[in-house]
Amino acid sequence: MASVFNSSRLAGKTVLVTGSSGGIGAETALLFARAGANLILTARRQAQLDEVAAKARESGVTVSTHIVDMRDRKAIKAFAESAGRVDILVNNAGMVLGTEHVGQIAEDDVQTMFDTNVLGLISLTQIFVNVFKKQNSGHIINLGSIAGKEAYAGGSIYCATKHAVSAFNGSLLRELVSTPIRVTQICPGMVETEFSVTRFRGDREKADKVYEGVQPLVAYDIAEEIVWAASRPDHINIADVLIFPKAQAAAGVVHRGGYEKK
Ligand SMILES: NC(=O)c1ccc[n+]([C@@H]2O[C@H](COP(=O)([O-])OP(=O)(O)OC[C@H]3O[C@@H](n4cnc5c(N)ncnc54)[C@H](OP(=O)(O)O)[C@@H]3O)[C@@H](O)[C@H]2O)c1
Repeated sequence: MASVFNSSRLAGKTVLVTGSSGGIGAETALLFARAGANLILTARRQAQLDEVAAKARESGVTVSTHIVDMRDRKAIKAFAESAGRVDILVNNAGMVLGTEHVGQIAEDDVQTMFDTNVLGLISLTQIFVNVFKKQNSGHIINLGSIAGKEAYAGGSIYCATKHAVSAFNGSLLRELVSTPIRVTQICPGMVETEFSVTRFRGDREKADKVYEGVQPLVAYDIAEEIVWAASRPDHINIADVLIFPKAQAAAGVVHRGGYEKK
């Protein structure tokens, strides 16, 4: 199988992936490891991080794991200060809670989504942008979403968080134009991970309905895009990538039928 990455450009680099205990983050970590990159993995669940780390080490790379809750700014700062050399930061940790309409959304859910998806991402990036400026190199890869490009009913807060990520990414890209630091936003459409299970608060049946009759993307598909973006020649910056499954054309435009999950 032809490789999606150029490993000579990634071998020996250190990649920090937030939210790498599952889903897109875990697959991204494993693919970077296959390209020879060392890993720093963060999330809240140690057992899952350990599993990903064990698989990644099979590629012969160095892996460390750290419990970091992206809602906890002090923890982010303490972790970042001891993280050591980082070449690529993948701001992947993120989540969605509920489909309630405005007026019905629990304030705690609003807080959790903004703390995790926006404020945590900003805190970590503020630290590493200075590290990258000092080392005169680096790549910041932010996980946006189609929800950061268009809004949909039942997604007001999640869409607001991902629009915020998109705006933050855009400003960062412009601010760093005169530096060697690269800035990339990766915007997936429908990816089948634990994402919808979290949205429906553990109700797997409801989560499964999201993907009914559609072949969704899988976490590995997005990992390929992330690792591909990171392995472009140094003079190239992949600024913004929008990735849909073939049966999706917009947040609410999905063709259902003709696909049955095996
Ligand atoms: N799946 C989709 O359809 C889709 C579409 C567009 C964009 N995205 C974005 O892609 C990213 C990854 O999502 P996914 O689909 O892989 O979902 P997932 O399977 O639910 O994985 C989410 C990851 O984020 C971590 N996380 C959640 N809250 C956290 C917190 N407070 N602190 C630290 N880590 C936290 C989780 O780890 P712990 O629970 O162990 O902390 C987990 O590793 C997110 O930014 C999401 O918004 C997903």
